[in-house]
Amino acid sequence: MPTKTGILREGKSKILHTTEDPNLLIQEYKDAATAFNGIKKGVIVDKGVFNCAISTRIFHLLEAAGIPTHLVEVLNEREQLVKTVEIVMVEFVVRNVAAGSFCKRYGTEEGVLFPEPLLEWFVKSDELGDPHIGRQAIDLLGLSDMATLDEASELTLRVNKLLCEFWKSLGIDLIDFKLEFGRDADGNLLLADEFTPDGCRLWDSETGEKLDKDRFRFDLGDVEASYARLNSLVEQAIPV
Ligand code: C5P
Repeated sequence: MPTKTGILREGKSKILHTTEDPNLLIQEYKDAATAFNGIKKGVIVDKGVFNCAISTRIFHLLEAAGIPTHLVEVLNEREQLVKTVEIVMVEFVVRNVAAGSFCKRYGTEEGVLFPEPLLEWFVKSDELGDPHIGRQAIDLLGLSDMATLDEASELTLRVNKLLCEFWKSLGIDLIDFKLEFGRDADGNLLLADEFTPDGCRLWDSETGEKLDKDRFRFDLGDVEASYARLNSLVEQAIPV
């Protein structure tokens, strides 16, 4: 069993611990919640437990469908053993329905269904507030080589297709989400980070009720209950 030897990086919602094996890290999920690039801070009780369980099961589903991920195994209710990757400094966002920063940027009404999924790239930088970026600027700034950008973009759209179907089967619409990718020691491009209600928008298909971190961002109430409900739906749908 690998043990923690130090902290590689502590983020807003997770801690990456080093282990004796340089190719393996322990990813720990925290209850801390932040929004609007860290301006709003709080705690969602047991979020770390729900997110660890949700992300583990979703990554299993994706692996089974041929999407390579960094997940090795779940260690306990808050920690996963993951492969060390060199992270691509671009965040990959897919939108199926207009929401969030898209509406803010372009003055679009929330809830407008896109004719096809929209893929967007953002700079992975808390300091800069994760700004939207285009292909040429990614190349120019050396944030990713173009082959990696294309491969990760294609994987992101495949994930969208799989997860739209998955959530729809649970009576939930996948509105948008963010993914991160990295290369392992052997040069394989892997889906990294997480897939949790912190990094996606999920709306009840019947009522349109928001079930994700927007409940925390906009003080909609029942945040814990919503995460718990998503976790129990995922638990029933994806056995581990
Ligand atoms: O804020 P925006 O509308 O651009 O977010 C799109 C999607 O990506 C949302 O589901 C949001 O939770 C996720 N996201 C994220 N981390 C970021 C930026 C966006 O998880 N840094």
